Amino acid sequence: MSQLQLATWPEVETYLARSTGIIIPIGSTEQHGPNGLIGTDALTAEMVARAVGETVGALVAPTISVGMAQHHLGFPGSITLRPSTLMAVIVDHVASLARHGFDRFFFVNGHGGNIATTTAAFSEIYAERSLHPAGNRPGVRCKLRNWWEGPETEALCKTLYGDALGSHATPSEVAMTWHGFPHAIKHATMAPRIAPTGAFHDADDYRSRFPDGRIGSDPTLATAADGARILDIATREVAADYRAFVQEA
Ligand code: NI
Repeated sequence: MSQLQLATWPEVETYLARSTGIIIPIGSTEQHGPNGLIGTDALTAEMVARAVGETVGALVAPTISVGMAQHHLGFPGSITLRPSTLMAVIVDHVASLARHGFDRFFFVNGHGGNIATTTAAFSEIYAERSLHPAGNRPGVRCKLRNWWEGPETEALCKTLYGDALGSHATPSEVAMTWHGFPHAIKHATMAPRIAPTGAFHDADDYRSRFPDGRIGSDPTLATAADGARILDIATREVAADYRAFVQEA
């Protein structure tokens, strides 16, 4: 058993007797350049989270598929939650599951734009519990893990793509979706081959700086076979971090 949505409540009750940890995939629904799928960040986070759940025998919650992506709204199909909305979504997920006895919340993240908001939501959760006279009991802990950040995962992506990895619509995340969803593979020509890099502000500013949506990447380098390798190594690294998180004192 690994997906919460495919479990029954008695199965969850039985699970809670042996573990109070849960994995929550969190992604985004936003443009990913000319050949990347709108769901890339949600799909990749879910792939890694489910593979980790199978590896470590942990429950995996439904994916939070829409994140904080205001800067992508210049491109059709992108959806954002306001930071305040996403914080409320995260706080309510944790509060609901904490009521049942879960106390280790491991968010597998697929979108850099979620990081600030998600960690602010964790601070909100801790603040509410720390301000309570009884303190944080039972001791709820939350952790955010970006699937791409393990040292071996980063090294593999650098080896495969070098300077064309970039930071948005990367060949690595595109490769992961090609492995997971081969029926949805798209091809497009990229001009320039490697997209520009730099900072940005709002959605209009983003679109004017990065006209086709990519930042620093050449996603035509993606292959489904690369995606399988990246998923495998990311799963191993994220699984190790999950085990350490649920075992920490
Ligand atoms: Ni992405």
